[in-house]
Amino acid sequence: KTKNGGNLRCPIVCVLGHVDHGKTTLLDKIRKTRVAKREAGGITQHIGASEIPIDVIKRVCGDLLNMLKADLKIPGLLVIDTPGHEAFTSLRKRGGALADIAILVVDINEGFKPQTIEAVNILRQCKTPFVVAANKIDLIPGWNSKEMPFILNFNEKNQHPNALTEFEIRLYENVIKPLNELGFEADLYSRVQDVTKTVCIVPVSAVTGEGIPDLLMMVAGLAQKFLEDRLKLNVEGYAKGTILEVKEERGLGTTIDAIIYDGIAKRGDYLVVGLPDGVLVTRVKALLKPKPLDEMRDPRDKFKPVNEVTAAAGVKIAAPDLDKVIAGCPIRIVPKDKIEEAKEEVMRE
Ligand code: GTP
Ligand code: MG
Ligand code: NA
Repeated sequence: KTKNGGNLRCPIVCVLGHVDHGKTTLLDKIRKTRVAKREAGGITQHIGASEIPIDVIKRVCGDLLNMLKADLKIPGLLVIDTPGHEAFTSLRKRGGALADIAILVVDINEGFKPQTIEAVNILRQCKTPFVVAANKIDLIPGWNSKEMPFILNFNEKNQHPNALTEFEIRLYENVIKPLNELGFEADLYSRVQDVTKTVCIVPVSAVTGEGIPDLLMMVAGLAQKFLEDRLKLNVEGYAKGTILEVKEERGLGTTIDAIIYDGIAKRGDYLVVGLPDGVLVTRVKALLKPKPLDEMRDPRDKFKPVNEVTAAAGVKIAAPDLDKVIAGCPIRIVPKDKIEEAKEEVMRE
């Protein structure tokens, strides 16, 4: 609970980047899931969502958390995975618009590609702060990559001098320089003095797990800092969200998978959906939450029925009359006396 009695909101972290630069694999490594390997054609085609609880973040980061000057108060992170294939610009924009903070994934060996640049422009437009995950450092010639914090592996004891030189060249040529050309100051995260002025780059390997503690520490620390600065830490009022997918579920009929980005959703309240040609009002029959660390679009476990969902969260909603609803529609979940207010809001979006 915060000073004024509100609940701390879970920040939304959007993962963006060029196709195959390793977004889903990076999340798989954090979650211990295997979503990327099961994707048709090896490409992501939908927005995904998963919750990383704060105790997992603290366990993975360990002593690295001492690098942060503040205690972590957030309840965890809601991570949104997006497709990198050029066909899915609208999904990247939807993900980018939801985000409090973003992780821009760049293959350190390939550098900036068209959808990397597109992602930077989306983030600039949404004024979303971001860190760069410079991925696939295990492929730098001679690099000795291990499942450990990058900061403890980046030294002359663990790396050959040629590998260190090659790392610095790729970091500068493929990541820092293109960011400078797009108008951003950027540097290796451990060399950054002021995180509000310089983009932090965290070298990682989604395959070995190197750098993941550093990445989670930076993202959790920055998310909390930026949320505090924008006074967006409290969850209050009715739920606001966006539909990710519409799905038939046995026994439930047509359901929606949604991200709740603000407020609290309650079972039995009214679901108000902004459609292209009007507004749908229906009654929430069931709220179903994915398990922590499960990818919503490919879960390992069954979703759990709950009476209430607090932002930010992914949730499956069962309700009558969802046949006409489509992905991308704005939603509200409100008590009866707020239906009119909610209708006006979704019509304006
Ligand atoms: P889209 O969602 O389709 O844009 O791709 P993505 O960015 O999610 O990339 P994905 O996780 O599908 O990974 C693409 C390929 O790169 C897979 O074969 C991964 O195994 C591989 N890969 C991802 N990260 C790393 C890494 O750190 N090192 C190495 N060697 N391979 C990686
Ligand atoms: Mg992917
Ligand atoms: Na891929």
